[in-house]
Amino acid sequence: MKNNPLPRLDSNPDVRERLLPFCRLQPGDIWDDPEGRHRIGCIDAADRDQIRKLVGDAKPTLAIHDPPYNLVAFDIRSIGEFIEWCRKWIRNTTEVTAADASLYVWLGADQNDGFQPLPDFMLMMRDEPYKARSFITMRNQRGYGTQRNWMALRQELLYYTKGSPGFNVDAEYTDIPKILRGYYKEVNGRKTENFERSKSDNIRAGNVWVDIQQVFYRMDENVSGCYAQKPLKCIERIITASSRPGDVVVDFFAHSGATLIAAEKHGRRCFTTDIDPVYAEICIRRLERYRRSGHEGWQNGHPFESELPCVDSSDDTSVENARPVPQKHLF
Ligand SMILES: C[S@@+](CC[C@H](N)C(=O)[O-])C[C@H]1O[C@@H](n2cnc3c(N)ncnc32)[C@H](O)[C@@H]1O
Repeated sequence: MKNNPLPRLDSNPDVRERLLPFCRLQPGDIWDDPEGRHRIGCIDAADRDQIRKLVGDAKPTLAIHDPPYNLVAFDIRSIGEFIEWCRKWIRNTTEVTAADASLYVWLGADQNDGFQPLPDFMLMMRDEPYKARSFITMRNQRGYGTQRNWMALRQELLYYTKGSPGFNVDAEYTDIPKILRGYYKEVNGRKTENFERSKSDNIRAGNVWVDIQQVFYRMDENVSGCYAQKPLKCIERIITASSRPGDVVVDFFAHSGATLIAAEKHGRRCFTTDIDPVYAEICIRRLERYRRSGHEGWQNGHPFESELPCVDSSDDTSVENARPVPQKHLF
């Protein structure tokens, strides 16, 4: 296995600067997929005109957004400012999506700061034309914490709808092992515990997802340099539950392009954007690589290897990136 990762780009501005000349998109630009399916923008999610330009006449039936959480890994704004910013991209979403559409938003709750911004966001959403449908928690394998508090292991995902979009319950069935021990069932005269009967394709994931491996450097889908990459499996679950083949899915915070790759795999179209040209370029390259080779990421290599075969970083986060810690902000 290669051992040539990019360091986290958010905490290595020098490396990011070195990548900028290799980026095809400048702020405001949109890349049109030569195969005519997807669009990738370098566009601000809160900018109404730019988002309208990105989406054009399409009527997306699904939006999956994973904004910066106003938590440690990102620039922290006041909670009021953050929520007003969220309102802008939510309204942009409302404007460009179909009358019947689903909306999923990943968000965190800072236990060191009144659990913001999750509850504030939920309250803000009550003013918007959506019905709250589910509050999903995804369990990370690795967490963070001190000896004086519960380890933080959760990522929150809010599911809303407007109008009456479909929901494909088949997408919810999973082959996860049961995670609770129990000895209550007899099979062939012998008491068995849950674990022994655990693999079953009629278990529903429900709204607590414990069957999804966080991305780490050994996985094919790993995109080094990206500090907040979601596993494809969770995005594929959302896409297959809440859209149909041929539908347009939007994601205004593309980063590693997880929604884009999941859409490509499942015959959906994805219109996505990241305000940062480096992440927009990573998305384009990830799609190109997937089409060329079937690889979903670079494992422990990186997207700019042809231009920068070896990226040195004096910052010790490069070492961290080589360890099996998939994301720094594990909320
Ligand atoms: C939490 S990450 C998204 C992770 C993504 N779901 C994935 O799996 O790779 C948030 C991304 O939003 C981008 N971003 C921040 N502010 C933005 C804005 N105003 N418009 C568009 N993108 C923005 C950041 O550059 C970052 O790449």
